[in-house]
Amino acid sequence: MYQLTLIILTLFSLLVQGLFHEKETNFERLMRNYENIEPSEQITEEWLEQPLDHFNSSDNRVWKMRYFQNFEHFKPNGPIFLYIGGEGPLRGTVLAAGMIYDLASETHGAMFASEHRYYGDSIPLNPTKKENLKYLSSQQALADIHKLLTDKKQSSRLKHSKVVVIGGSYAGNLAAWTRKLYPNLVDAVIASSAPLLAKYDFKEYLETVGDDLKKYGSPSCYRNIEKQYKYYDDAFKTEEGIIKLKKEENLCSNVSLNLPENQFLFVEKRANPIKILAQYGNVDKIKSYCNNSSQTLKQNSCEYFDFTESKYATYHTIPKNNNIWVWQICTEFSYFQTTSSDKQPFGKSLTIETTSKLLCSLLYGIDDDSVRKSVERTNKFYGALHPNVTKVVFVNGELDPWHRLGILEDISEEAPAIFIPKASHCADLGPAQSNDPPELTEARLIIKSIVKKWIKVAS
Ligand SMILES: *[C@@H]1O[C@H](CO)[C@@H](O)[C@H](O)[C@H]1NC(C)=O
Ligand SMILES: *[C@@H]1O[C@H](CO)[C@@H](O)[C@H](O)[C@H]1NC(C)=O
Ligand SMILES: *[C@@H]1O[C@H](CO)[C@@H](O)[C@H](O)[C@H]1NC(C)=O
Ligand SMILES: *[C@@H]1O[C@H](CO)[C@@H](O)[C@H](O)[C@H]1NC(C)=O
Ligand SMILES: *[C@@H]1O[C@H](CO)[C@@H](O)[C@H](O)[C@H]1NC(C)=O
Repeated sequence: MYQLTLIILTLFSLLVQGLFHEKETNFERLMRNYENIEPSEQITEEWLEQPLDHFNSSDNRVWKMRYFQNFEHFKPNGPIFLYIGGEGPLRGTVLAAGMIYDLASETHGAMFASEHRYYGDSIPLNPTKKENLKYLSSQQALADIHKLLTDKKQSSRLKHSKVVVIGGSYAGNLAAWTRKLYPNLVDAVIASSAPLLAKYDFKEYLETVGDDLKKYGSPSCYRNIEKQYKYYDDAFKTEEGIIKLKKEENLCSNVSLNLPENQFLFVEKRANPIKILAQYGNVDKIKSYCNNSSQTLKQNSCEYFDFTESKYATYHTIPKNNNIWVWQICTEFSYFQTTSSDKQPFGKSLTIETTSKLLCSLLYGIDDDSVRKSVERTNKFYGALHPNVTKVVFVNGELDPWHRLGILEDISEEAPAIFIPKASHCADLGPAQSNDPPELTEARLIIKSIVKKWIKVAS
């Protein structure tokens, strides 16, 4: 009986898993840049005991956080560089290349990389149980980082070290916030592609995808996409349109394409590769995408997907990083990438109502009103685009849609912004690529010289 239940559960989760948000989280995608980096023997995996709840001293439960360290360039009291992990498993090879590695090698620094609680191997409590997720928040994660840094500074050879915190995307927010919350512990920060403004309806995301297509593809590329998605939206309106569309797109006849939730899944799946092109691509990839007439997904067997409330209600029990990140979205940041704007080419079916319902209400039982309130709370607590910090450099890429929620202009001389033309999400942090635009290469040099100035190391 148990085995049969297990088989049914497995089949069921495979089915549900294929439906929605099969893409990896931003952080998982970024870690792929380090897949082929040679792992240095000097990088070691370490564990640090952390309180489950940093804000309740009568709760004495603990768990072990994973982190990596690399002392290959270190000389006593050289700076500490900490790469903060975000919404996915951390790779040790982040300490073998890219911004952190270059800075450490140029300044005799020690390198650390910390995994974010509830991701990878840093699991305080089983994340497939909703009640266990209450200890997952940016504030708890920041307290974990504080403990790690405080712990490291105890050692005699790091006692006088300056501390530089580096992070990208959501972890870029965390990096900036360490300087706000712990100004006496953290001396300088690189916050790369950090969406510091939490936003309920992030309608600017798809606007930027459209801008990229227009500017680096062609105006006709934009218009073709616009036409395509208008065609989908029109088809959704009638029974005949739906039947015709299902044939054309090779959907199984039993797909209920009259439900807005299924229309959402249909459109989301098709728009996703274009979103990825804007967020992680480059000018050449956008050009060649737009130069190509045959872009549609074609497969042999018919495509099946379905939405019913009962299925979605158990979706969060599938252990996936994206599900865990969705909890953070629903309780802190929202960032819903909708089609609410008229200045984007993806039609109208990615509505804020359906997004909020599918992600927060059905998966986690968090209603729309709480989602809105948590976004306000986040912005109030951290200061959104006015975080009142110094010695933080805010870096963003032009192609990357997330730059629309980032700091693009200097807050002050001590909190400058760098906007990199033709650059994608967090490109400045990753290992250099042969096709990097010169603007990116130059930005990396500028960022490094700013950080060195703040920690008083000669360039
Ligand atoms: C703090 O922890 C204690 C012991 O686990 C628990 O009884 C109490 O409810 C917790 N308080 C809060 C506010 O979570
Ligand atoms: C829908 O149809 C497809 C193909 O005919 C089939 O594989 C799938 O099991 C069907 N799903 C349901 C829930 O009926
Ligand atoms: C068109 O797309 C196909 C498949 O993605 C690719 O192999 C081909 O090189 C592309 N053609 C052009 C002109 O970009
Ligand atoms: C676009 O495609 C044409 C032929 O299909 C090719 O001659 C041209 O070089 C391509 N341009 C780019 C930028 O890929
Ligand atoms: C900004 O931070 C400084 C130093 O931490 C503090 O003195 C000042 O009051 C803060 N300003 C605002 C508007 O919070």
